[in-house]
Amino acid sequence: MKIVTELAELRVARRALDGSVGLVPTMGYLHAGHLSLVERAKRENDHVIATIYVNPTQFEPDADLDSYPRDLERDFQLLRDAGVAIVWTPNDQVMYPAGYQTWVEVTEITQLLEGAQRPGHFKGVTTIVTKLFNGAQPDRAYFGQKDAQQVAVISQMTRDLMLPIDIVICPLVREADGLAMSSRNAYLTPSQRQAAPILGHSLSAAIEQLENGERNAAALQQHILQILRSEPLTDPEYVSIAHPDTLLELETVADAALLSMAVRIGKTRLIDNMIWRANENDL
Ligand code: PAF
Repeated sequence: MKIVTELAELRVARRALDGSVGLVPTMGYLHAGHLSLVERAKRENDHVIATIYVNPTQFEPDADLDSYPRDLERDFQLLRDAGVAIVWTPNDQVMYPAGYQTWVEVTEITQLLEGAQRPGHFKGVTTIVTKLFNGAQPDRAYFGQKDAQQVAVISQMTRDLMLPIDIVICPLVREADGLAMSSRNAYLTPSQRQAAPILGHSLSAAIEQLENGERNAAALQQHILQILRSEPLTDPEYVSIAHPDTLLELETVADAALLSMAVRIGKTRLIDNMIWRANENDL
């Protein structure tokens, strides 16, 4: 496995790869969710390139950029064992050198949900993902459904800019107790960690209500909030029942809904989501 930092080194290593390339962009501190993306990329491509870069421009000024968990050596070992061909770990000098002034922005679906709570976040994401695409030149790129709005925004950007890359959206991976895997779970104290699976449980409860015929979005939202508030350590930021494609809030659920939330547990902000479809075979 080649580990490269500079763009010139990446270009040389990329040119040496024959056949199709799958890209797995990450911010490191890898968990089983990331590795499921690598496994899928490995199955569907001749080679896999992974990137590890904690992108400063997608963090709000008072967010957790400095404390974001990092363990490069462990990440390298996991990626080596998973059969990755190249790991690109650019630094801020490579990505945002002095005089940097170009941004990629998706204007509408970025205003909702996470975008409403984290102004500027998606501009940072779309800019860095474009740069990662341009560096790695993949045929396919793999993202987790855990960041439901991120995958919608990146898919929109890829369509709008006619980027010749297939965006592959992979299922969210949960711990045995239902907590969605996230590098930020490392921030939780033991008691917060014990409380955290309530996010997934509240979503499952709402899915069950949908299965039983509930279609009123406000009622579903209230049900989720009630469950979240039964756990004193949780502080819900938002709970949304939206259309999975447009991300617009629904009054009445018709054939599909994206149930999503951001919840603070202590200082840690966790997100989670589930998609419900009346016809399970619909994409
Ligand atoms: O999902 C992430 O880890 C990041 O947002 C990404 C896509 C690697 C861009 O920095």
